[in-house]
Amino acid sequence: MAFSLAQLIKARQADQYDLHMKYISPHMARVQQIIGFDKIYTRGEGAYVWDADGNRYLDLLAGFSVFNLGRNHPAIKQAMIEFLSRDSPTLIKMDCPLLAGLLAEELVKRMPPGLDAIFFANSGADAVDTAIKFARYATKRPRVVYLDHSFHGLTLGTLSINGGEGFKKGFEPLIPGTTMVAMNDLETLEKELRKGDVAAFIVEPIQGKGVYLPQEDYLPEAQRLCRKYVTQFICDEVQVGLGRAGKFLCCEHWKLEPDMVTIAKSLGGGYVPVSAVIMRREINNKVFGHLKRAQVHSTTFGQNDMGMADRRDRSGSRLPGPPSKRLRRASSPSWW
Ligand SMILES: Cc1ncc(COP(=O)(O)O)c(C=O)c1O
Repeated sequence: MAFSLAQLIKARQADQYDLHMKYISPHMARVQQIIGFDKIYTRGEGAYVWDADGNRYLDLLAGFSVFNLGRNHPAIKQAMIEFLSRDSPTLIKMDCPLLAGLLAEELVKRMPPGLDAIFFANSGADAVDTAIKFARYATKRPRVVYLDHSFHGLTLGTLSINGGEGFKKGFEPLIPGTTMVAMNDLETLEKELRKGDVAAFIVEPIQGKGVYLPQEDYLPEAQRLCRKYVTQFICDEVQVGLGRAGKFLCCEHWKLEPDMVTIAKSLGGGYVPVSAVIMRREINNKVFGHLKRAQVHSTTFGQNDMGMADRRDRSGSRLPGPPSKRLRRASSPSWW
């Protein structure tokens, strides 16, 4: 008998919480039961999901922010269907896939001036880890400064720049050379940067965990200090980018011009895990700066066609169109 996903789901749907109890995370399954979230969801559309009894729920969690355009957006779904029907020879790896190039081209149009080189990764943490590596390599400095209350992911690298203790406990030792400073405390930030060994200062323009906003002048001043001490200024837009804060990138609210930006989550249209680091060309050139170094940083599923395909330009756009003034390209800042 031919395999049928629909039949498999129908036959086993009732087992889903037991399977998780047995094989995946009994504690997480138990939490769902305790708080009454142990539903069987059967359909999702836009901002809503439906359970097996036909009850409709407004989903404010949105897959931890991967559904900026809602679940199963028709334009994105159509791109996925079209992609699958093409029998694409994806992941050749020793080629330069068109769709990755096209997505890069569209993203660059929407970036602050000077950000015109892209690395595609798989998750938000993967992108942030990449940015840290690249900052270290490009500056030849070891340290990273981050903010109190920050959240950049839960890999070993990103855990090392987590602004809370809860996630870290028991996983030490984390990566060395990271220093936490308080948001809005420019004096302490400058004290750290002045030491001359800080590769990067990383911020979420609005902090997702707790929703902390900086004082109006904090981010522009922090960027100015980074320029002064030749430290990379990284905006982690994984949570608040891609339209979630009202502009394509949240850092646009302060007209910031970071050296690197990380994005993820709804970049995959709610279907495919995809992330990206968008950086100044100089950074990319330094990291990959020789034919022998062309693969010095890579990931197996990076640039995969399916992740790159779920892009739409105008109607039903996954990537909102760029305002025309943003098309200007600026040369690199003189401090580089
Ligand atoms: C600001 C920020 N950076 C990075 C991450 C990590 O992303 P991921 O869970 O895809 O690894 C998150 C996740 O919520 C985040 O909010």
